[in-house]
Amino acid sequence: MTISTPSLTDKVFEQYEQSVMGTYGRFPIALERGRGARVWDLEGREYLDFVAGIATCALGHSHPALTKAVTEQMDKLVHVSNLYYIPNQGALAQWITERSVADQVFFCNSGAEANEGAIKLARKYGHRVLGIQKPKILTAHNSFHGRTLATVTATGQPKYQKDFKPLVQGFIYAHYNDFRSVECAVQSNPDTVAILMEPLQGEGGVTPGEPAFFQQLRDFCTEKKILLMLDEVQVGMGRTGRLWGYENLGIEPDIFTLAKALGGGVPIGALCARKEFALFEPGDHASTFGGNPLATAAGLAVCRTLEQENLMENAHARGMQLRGHLEALHNQYPAHIEQVRGWGLIQGLVLKSVSSIDVVKCAMAKGLLLVPAGPHVVRFVPPLVVTAEEVDQAMGILSECLADILLG
Ligand SMILES: Cc1ncc(COP(=O)(O)O)c(C=O)c1O
Repeated sequence: MTISTPSLTDKVFEQYEQSVMGTYGRFPIALERGRGARVWDLEGREYLDFVAGIATCALGHSHPALTKAVTEQMDKLVHVSNLYYIPNQGALAQWITERSVADQVFFCNSGAEANEGAIKLARKYGHRVLGIQKPKILTAHNSFHGRTLATVTATGQPKYQKDFKPLVQGFIYAHYNDFRSVECAVQSNPDTVAILMEPLQGEGGVTPGEPAFFQQLRDFCTEKKILLMLDEVQVGMGRTGRLWGYENLGIEPDIFTLAKALGGGVPIGALCARKEFALFEPGDHASTFGGNPLATAAGLAVCRTLEQENLMENAHARGMQLRGHLEALHNQYPAHIEQVRGWGLIQGLVLKSVSSIDVVKCAMAKGLLLVPAGPHVVRFVPPLVVTAEEVDQAMGILSECLADILLG
């Protein structure tokens, strides 16, 4: 009789089963280490990682510059309070402001927290500048802005809100890429003080914003003294081949938010504003860990490496290559693929007859990690360091999966 011992992976599954809250539908692998665009699970199986922590690990895994910056900082000073000046924080804020429309930055720990900051800032603008007592913020249907109560209210998707009512007051919704819908909503809600939108809707299905729509929004906001706030959490920091998502739209926001790629996997978020809208005063807003020496060392390493290694150029070139492969699959399977859409290294394959999760599961079994963006869109968000060979290899696996699923 043989007694089978549980694998390392089985032990992890058991710990999760017993002790971790079931907030995620998880795929059945436990990842242990990574390098560049590759990761390995506890059983030693290798995967090409076209998820990158959902558009977070911009430098890939174990990038020497990030490892060095974080380990050296660990050895010097991990955390102090924002009661004191933190040199890395000043330098990171300056890096962002020198390259964007923003003049001032507030650091926090996540995308939701950055958006919470933007929501508070917009409300203060409404109270203090416009004299509006019950300010409203307009967001888009199908958007995603986070999971805290205010940001889940901002998120225009009822599936994320249904069990958490009552939601936060003061949010209204309009259709993305539909200016008439925005105009109507604001006409019915004259207390609107800000519009918050993603330059490209990531979670909502990899839907790029249309430049003409955003130009109308920009003009409308300027005319009505409404703040234009862009959520750059998923597309900012070079992913689209340009540093900021809004550069793809030809307009500039008043406020924008960052997180995900800013720390390359080390938690950090940022609220970035033009000077005239950076209205927070001492006591208005805070975050214990926000911009601490460790997180901002990581942020600086990511920012400097983006430029030193020309990663935005790589995102553009690899994005074109990826897009070419996806378009070829679209041509091959017109009855099953509706569209390919995205910018740079955030691309979506929109399926007609197949569910995205089936493609993601098949790819995982063949050594490629992908993530759905809704029931019919497969999302491709590899690290910005991904190589041409890795893109070809990943697309070879995807092509095999589509053949398996579609042709049986
Ligand atoms: C556009 C956008 N905003 C906000 C968030 C929330 O970020 P976090 O999970 O860091 O709170 C996400 C996360 O996917 C996002 O894609």
